[in-house]
Amino acid sequence: MSDKKITDYQQNTLLAHAGLAPRENHGVVNPPVYHASTITFATMEQYETRDTIAYDGPSYGRSGTPTQFAFERAVTALHGGHKSVAYPSGLAAIAGAVNTFVKNGDHILVADTVYGPTRSRVCGTILARAGVDVEFYDALIGAGIKDLVRDNTVLVYMESPGSLTFEIQDVPAIIGALKGTGIVTMIDNTWASGYFFKPLAMGVDVVVEAATKYTVGHSDAMLGTVTVATENHYQLLKAMANSYGYHAAPDDCYLGQRGLRTIGVRLERHQSNALEVANWLQSRDEVARVMYPALPSDPGYKIWKRDFAGASGLMGVELVDAPKAAVAAMIDSYDLFGIGASWGGYESLVQSCYPAKIRSARPWTGTGPTVRFHIGLEDTVDLIENLSRGFEKFNAARK
Ligand SMILES: Cc1ncc(COP(=O)(O)O)c(C=O)c1O
Repeated sequence: MSDKKITDYQQNTLLAHAGLAPRENHGVVNPPVYHASTITFATMEQYETRDTIAYDGPSYGRSGTPTQFAFERAVTALHGGHKSVAYPSGLAAIAGAVNTFVKNGDHILVADTVYGPTRSRVCGTILARAGVDVEFYDALIGAGIKDLVRDNTVLVYMESPGSLTFEIQDVPAIIGALKGTGIVTMIDNTWASGYFFKPLAMGVDVVVEAATKYTVGHSDAMLGTVTVATENHYQLLKAMANSYGYHAAPDDCYLGQRGLRTIGVRLERHQSNALEVANWLQSRDEVARVMYPALPSDPGYKIWKRDFAGASGLMGVELVDAPKAAVAAMIDSYDLFGIGASWGGYESLVQSCYPAKIRSARPWTGTGPTVRFHIGLEDTVDLIENLSRGFEKFNAARK
């Protein structure tokens, strides 16, 4: 056997093996699902060491089972991180990670284009009640972030591309501008996942992902992850997760680790399908603009090409001006695009959306109705046939 570490391998090799320990599990390839509340110890001495920093095994079901630890090891390897913590959902991961690094009286900078509940629930509810001053910044700010830093700024929270409108942030410029300030940088990396974008390698401190999406990949579990680069950040994060009593369910951790085995092939297919559909949509008279960073015409294309290894299946579309009823006629006509808010599973989805309602630093200037498509793993000829039919209904209802 060689002495190579899992992270010495190429990405898809790593995904096929990270976190697994068949020799510890009777040779079984996948980690077993451990259902547990009580964990027992052989001796009083062992019992009393369970709460020490040096101990990283299971101590009580709530704070993690071997299934959760196997999943966390695989996520950490994909990100090239130090350690990860699994959470019961993506939003729980965001709330848990943000709360780890802020306190009453602090100021934080949050990208204007973050996932809606990050803005309304984490910032608008939890942090508002905690007396944390949240300032939303223009996602295109780049190095200009420095001008917004105050004496009490402790955290910069990014998401790239932004939710619904897909602006790509210049992460290296932001990290460069904050160097030496001690400000913690955090990013929601759900769109690209650790497969297509590696924020830790760019100097970001904390990576948050809704594993519910591409990691699980089959629309059947809720899960979140946070990955960090240092032991200090890990200890803070884990202590906060334990304080909230967060528990990532064993079956969902199992599905998360299983999803990781195929995330590479799935994302490559999401990407090729999405590119084909995005190009087709862009050629249509009904479309004012496709928001997808992998299109050379997209304003974020240059930075995306420089920093990302690929694009996933989620994109926004601004339609030409039309009444709401025309958009509804289009969406309701689809057979293959489920109408739903989530994404990242194998199937295509569509939803109506209203970015103007959730932008403050850079008001939304789009004038037509906006929809979001998740392009799944189906054959594109069928997806395009569905979309064509939708446009016929759209046009008929506009007349
Ligand atoms: C970008 C982004 N981050 C986080 C989340 C939250 O994830 P979850 O639904 O697992 O709480 C979502 C969910 O849609 C999302 O789109």
